[in-house]
Amino acid sequence: MKKINIGILGYGTVGSAVDTLIHKNHALISHRTGIDLEVARIADISPKVHHPKLVRDAHLITEDPNISIVVEAIGGIHPALDLVLSAIKHGKHIVTSNKELIALYGDRIFSAAEEKGVMVRYEAAVGGGIPIIGPLSRDLLANDITEIFGIVNGTTNFILSKMTRDRVEFKGALVEAQRLGYAEADPKKDIEGYDASYKAAILAGVAFGAQVDWKNVYFEGITNISQEDIRYAGEIGYVIKLLAIAKKLHGACDVRVHPTLVPKDHPLATVSGPMNAIYVKGNAVGELMFYGQGAGGMATASAVVGDIIAVANDKSQITNYKQQKIKIKPISEITSRYYIRLAVPDRHGVLSGISKAFADEKVSIETVVQKEIAGRVATIVIIIHEAKEENIRKAIARLKKMRVVKQVNNVIRVGL
Ligand code: HSE
Repeated sequence: MKKINIGILGYGTVGSAVDTLIHKNHALISHRTGIDLEVARIADISPKVHHPKLVRDAHLITEDPNISIVVEAIGGIHPALDLVLSAIKHGKHIVTSNKELIALYGDRIFSAAEEKGVMVRYEAAVGGGIPIIGPLSRDLLANDITEIFGIVNGTTNFILSKMTRDRVEFKGALVEAQRLGYAEADPKKDIEGYDASYKAAILAGVAFGAQVDWKNVYFEGITNISQEDIRYAGEIGYVIKLLAIAKKLHGACDVRVHPTLVPKDHPLATVSGPMNAIYVKGNAVGELMFYGQGAGGMATASAVVGDIIAVANDKSQITNYKQQKIKIKPISEITSRYYIRLAVPDRHGVLSGISKAFADEKVSIETVVQKEIAGRVATIVIIIHEAKEENIRKAIARLKKMRVVKQVNNVIRVGL
């Protein structure tokens, strides 16, 4: 039996679940793989529980000659980056669930790993327990992957689902997500779209076999989505989802994260609560959808321990660091349909002024519906035919200057 000593950095939700899973399924894993996984040491700077393997000094793991695989489950950049680089320097393979670390410092980590001849795996960084990095970089290699898009953040999907189902506003849904443990006390990275943007950059990199620079990924979160938007979208046959979208173009790609009106009959529309789902289009396989728990200790540990086993079996690392950097198309150049919600005075001449602003920017209106009238203010919802984002932005800038427009309440992209 091949014995593998593992060190775990961070004893939070993921680190403790990895330790638990390795113990729980130890007999099954060793029977199936001939590998005896042993958690040799766990480091946590402020451990909240007693554990015989716990130490406070992470270097007792990164520099321990008996440990061959280091699991990084700290999250964030500091001190995770330095510890991962220290572990690589001391010849250890890395398994991480840290999307921010891979999206921002992947190049540095992969080139350090190549120099030392060690592996870095990060299946758990995207989609938690959903196997997606492995399939994209192994099972689907025969395909030209042209598109990959989906729901990759459970916190925001829970909030949007709650707003849709229970007709509550964003703030109430966020408080409920925090109460249930789906959102952190500081929810910024999830609700403002950072987490999904890291995952979009990683997915695009693996899917298109290129280095995707996270700094050029456009992202928006869901803090601006109101109950009205959810309701009006519903009335015209859509649900609002935060989507990560990556499309392969000629010599470039389109990678972005933003709320999107998804048609109710699209499979992604039915993905609710904290679940994740990722759609992949390949030129041989057609369309695939990967669905499952995108967060949570044991689901994430499933991906981490899978990576540990792959490393222990000497499976080659999943990386795109040797590839060319790929250009990301600026958001102003994308085309989309748009949903626009405006507050206007309820009087004559308003619609003709608004339609002129769009016409002047060569933007074509698909439908206009007047919604509630509160006092003398009417809400108008406009759906725009496929248009260039740059033109939409110019038209919106015009609207904002017009006396017949009280407020541009929201602009949301429509469709996939
Ligand atoms: N905060 C993430 C989410 C979990 O809400 O999906 C793991 O990436």
